[in-house]
Amino acid sequence: MQKVLVLNGPNLARLGSREPDIYGSTNYEGLVSAVTDLGTDLGLTVEVRQTDSESELIGWLHEAVDGEIDVVLNPAAFTHYSYALRDAAVQVTKTGRKLIEVHLSNPHTREEFRHTSVISGVATGVIAGFGVTSYLLALSAIAN
Ligand code: DQA
Repeated sequence: MQKVLVLNGPNLARLGSREPDIYGSTNYEGLVSAVTDLGTDLGLTVEVRQTDSESELIGWLHEAVDGEIDVVLNPAAFTHYSYALRDAAVQVTKTGRKLIEVHLSNPHTREEFRHTSVISGVATGVIAGFGVTSYLLALSAIAN
């Protein structure tokens, strides 16, 4: 079965209690179940991870490169400034695998610093603004 890594950056384990007006009321466990269940339906083996550490997230992208694994990535705040994460992300797409950047909210409707993504330019595609459904759309894109 095709494997997909669904990687989440800082503060995303706080889903449900963190600014629910922006990120919704589904908690992190709910996100994991929704993503894993759809993965099973689509015939994908999905592994969902979260970290607050830039270093750990970069290591997971290296793992995806070495294992030739497609990635769904919510880089959270790293989206807006981590060139190190971008340099890791570009290696995924250069190996011919997909890397889909997702966001629960639509950063373009929010503070100005969120309007810049240093990841989008090296992503296969970007899905933002649909809450947990952003992840589900990304998985469907990978399955297709
Ligand atoms: C986010 C948007 C980012 O601007 C923010 O820093 C996050 C979550 C989202 O999913 O909407 O932590 O990536």
